[in-house]
Amino acid sequence: MRHSIWIRQPATRWPNHRSREAGGVLISRASRFIWWGIGGVLLAVLASTPLVLVASGALPLRAWIAHPRASLLLSLGENPFPVRLVRPPVAPLSEMAQLGRHVFFDISLSSSGRMSCASCHVPERFYGPPGRASAVTGGPTLSSQGLRAVPSLMYLERQPSFSVGPDKDEDENISLAQLAAQSFNAPRAKKTAQDTAESAANLVPEGGLFWDGRVDTLQSQALFPLLNPLEMDGGSVEAEAARLRQAPYAKLFVQLFGASVFDNPRVAVAEALFAVARYQIEDPSFHPYSSKYDAWLEGKARLTRAEVRGYLLFNDPEKADCAGCHLDQAGLDGLPPQFTDDQYEALGVPRNMALSVNRNARYFDLGVCGPIRTDMADQTQYCGMFLTPTLRNVATRQVFMHNGVYHSLQQVMNFYNLRDTDPGAIYPAGPDGTVKKYNDIPLQYHTNVDTVDPPLDRSAGEKPANTKRDLQDIIAFLKTLTDGYVPGRGEPQ
Ligand code: HEC
Ligand code: HEC
Repeated sequence: MRHSIWIRQPATRWPNHRSREAGGVLISRASRFIWWGIGGVLLAVLASTPLVLVASGALPLRAWIAHPRASLLLSLGENPFPVRLVRPPVAPLSEMAQLGRHVFFDISLSSSGRMSCASCHVPERFYGPPGRASAVTGGPTLSSQGLRAVPSLMYLERQPSFSVGPDKDEDENISLAQLAAQSFNAPRAKKTAQDTAESAANLVPEGGLFWDGRVDTLQSQALFPLLNPLEMDGGSVEAEAARLRQAPYAKLFVQLFGASVFDNPRVAVAEALFAVARYQIEDPSFHPYSSKYDAWLEGKARLTRAEVRGYLLFNDPEKADCAGCHLDQAGLDGLPPQFTDDQYEALGVPRNMALSVNRNARYFDLGVCGPIRTDMADQTQYCGMFLTPTLRNVATRQVFMHNGVYHSLQQVMNFYNLRDTDPGAIYPAGPDGTVKKYNDIPLQYHTNVDTVDPPLDRSAGEKPANTKRDLQDIIAFLKTLTDGYVPGRGEPQ
């Protein structure tokens, strides 16, 4: 069922006492009275010019009629339903995390002597890639190209472990493969911004790290880049342990783990990886939740008209419906939205010929079902699926999608808008002129591609879900997700 955000929000958030308290909005009777008073006066003024406002904003007339006060506030850029966000606690780094910081920036752990975690996950770029290249080059001479785009390391502190299924608690005793097999016949429910719970009826993969979810913890994750021959190329656990022993921060190791820590290379490297994970979890720079949108959620910032329009389109199931997967509302517990539902989808983005691995016409990166991930190779219903990334700080990136095929938000927006309505604008044509739709997924897996979730539920020749102006406004909204916003600066133009 499709509801406009205008019907949903007030119903779930405003008159409901529990959510109001959970959201931290404690409005005394008196101030509520004043609010309604002000609202009433404004409404009276408006009554003479209602059409002007209705026409100027993105709010439909029915929203104005059903929720005049909220509509008015929103059209002025204010959040009608402010919440109090619960951010991760900020405390001085533990010694373990301090050790992790050393490891994170240590170029001597790479065979080139020039590459650390921070080379690809650049702190000044919100722990995303250093530039425009689809994949970063690493290895002994920094000339071996990686296979995928570098994701940001931010906002992973709440990332759940990889699992398949609607309810993680009940599924714990069933093997991953069993669960996956069940889902072969499960009908897919549509995901819309208004009703993500409906998709809980599906058995879908979710959680995990990397674009394919192949590892669960930040600790086990970090071993991959250390040893990956296309990345830091550390050679072996033994070689890395020897480098740690030589490192200027080796004494910190001994302080924390005792003098015998270097006796067993596996122990030394495992502790180093644990320390890196602690650094990512403890250091506030990985999860500040300090964007303009966060401030707006708390009622401390005002969005411009374009940003408000973009926000409404982002949430509108008839239009962009981005929030169906990139969740944008705070939880009742006040946890700020991560802009991902942690689930996997096959969007069928175009093949990226800038990746040298793709010169081999038989190579396909199919995400969850392999070939980089190996344990789900038989679960072909997941071929082509990749983890929905966060959109926080996305406007600062120059590389988008798992294969880095896009380099601007405009290109990404065109993909969502035209993939089905005008595939010729998105995919290359073969020699006979036919457009090679979903050309990065072999034909037999094309049925895995998501064609039910709006805006990807249209067909060729239909009108695209969004106009050019809509796309501009959605981009304006995405720019409010960049951290480091200072309330008071950057007021609406
Ligand atoms: C040569 C570039 C490069 C280096 C160096 C590198 N990474 Fe990565 N990192 C990547 C790429 C590419 C991916 C995505 C890989 C994939 O999905 O298969 C990634 C993914 C990750 C992820 C998962 C993020 C997510 O959203 O799921 C984490 C965590 C991570 N790296 C941490 C580290 C740490 C810690 C180090 C240092 C020990 C490091 N990386 C070094 C390129 C790099
Ligand atoms: C059905 C779920 C779904 C919907 C709806 C959806 N996305 Fe996505 N989004 C994804 C997935 C999955 C990826 C990664 C796909 C890949 O790499 O193959 C992605 C990737 C992106 C990226 C690239 C981010 C990066 O770091 O590379 C952007 C930007 C983005 N989406 C924006 C949007 C916008 C804007 C909308 C609304 C028009 C939207 N998405 C709708 C699931 C979705």
